[in-house]
Amino acid sequence: MNDERYTLITGAGQGLGKALALACAKQHFNLLLLALPGEDLASFSQSLQKDYGVKSDYLEIDLTEPEAAGNIHHWVHAHHYVLNRIINNAGIGSVGSFTSHDAGFYDRQLDLNIKAVVLLIHYFIEELAEEPDARILNISSLASFFAMPYKAVYASSKGFIYNFSRALRMEYLHTPLRICVACPGPITTNRKVLQRIKDQGRVSRIMALSPEKTARLCVKGMLKGKAFIIPGLPNKFLYWIEKLLPQNIKIKIVASRLQNNAPS
Ligand SMILES: NC(=O)c1ccc[n+]([C@@H]2O[C@H](COP(=O)([O-])OP(=O)(O)OC[C@H]3O[C@@H](n4cnc5c(N)ncnc54)[C@H](OP(=O)(O)O)[C@@H]3O)[C@@H](O)[C@H]2O)c1
Repeated sequence: MNDERYTLITGAGQGLGKALALACAKQHFNLLLLALPGEDLASFSQSLQKDYGVKSDYLEIDLTEPEAAGNIHHWVHAHHYVLNRIINNAGIGSVGSFTSHDAGFYDRQLDLNIKAVVLLIHYFIEELAEEPDARILNISSLASFFAMPYKAVYASSKGFIYNFSRALRMEYLHTPLRICVACPGPITTNRKVLQRIKDQGRVSRIMALSPEKTARLCVKGMLKGKAFIIPGLPNKFLYWIEKLLPQNIKIKIVASRLQNNAPS
């Protein structure tokens, strides 16, 4: 029997996903990296093998394709890889009034942020539940705790991931599998996000963390099997403030901070 185990990471070509892959390689986890074609996963995968002595393979795939989860499951089994961790990181963010994005955009955003996560877990969960110390880490967002005007669909998709993860964790507590959900605040991953952080003002800048620090805290929380992970003290503080403020006040504060952001 093959006693090597792998951690599968979606959206591993850039941003937080790439930082998560590096953080996992530093823990000597073997890796299966997934991203859209064109992210040069081949050389990233090779550099992880060379620099950290881990095994690594990659699959270029569009997770919004209807057969994506099934194709990933098939690929993993065809190569005789055995998973003990999945990190569902891939996700599309957005800001702007509801109609500043077209229906096709929301179709892709919901497919990636929600459907791809649910289906990938569905394909693998029974196998993972038999692995000692197995983990699923779903990347949600601090946005999951808020009703967010001008980020209505994105924040709601992350709310789904938060509640789905907490609920599913309970169903699998009788097994060694622990399902964890991370709810990061702003992460300085790419140009678009940097612009959003700038547009949202001082509070966002104080809360922002680098992808490397966010990834390190997420992996640490995942290894501890935490139910949910909020990286960084200012973000934890905001989580508790959110519990204290009435909804009608919170929603007005959020709207005033986001309404002038350029759609992206
Ligand atoms: N940045 C933030 O401020 C922030 C805050 C809280 C939560 N998050 C969450 O953190 C996660 C990563 O965010 P990020 O800022 O690192 O985003 P990013 O830089 O835009 O990276 C997104 C990742 O998802 C992948 N992806 C996008 N569409 C895909 C598709 N159709 N099929 C397969 N993969 C696809 C991308 O793959 P390619 O590499 O091939 O492009 C990329 O690796 C997301 O779930 C996001 O919601 C981000």
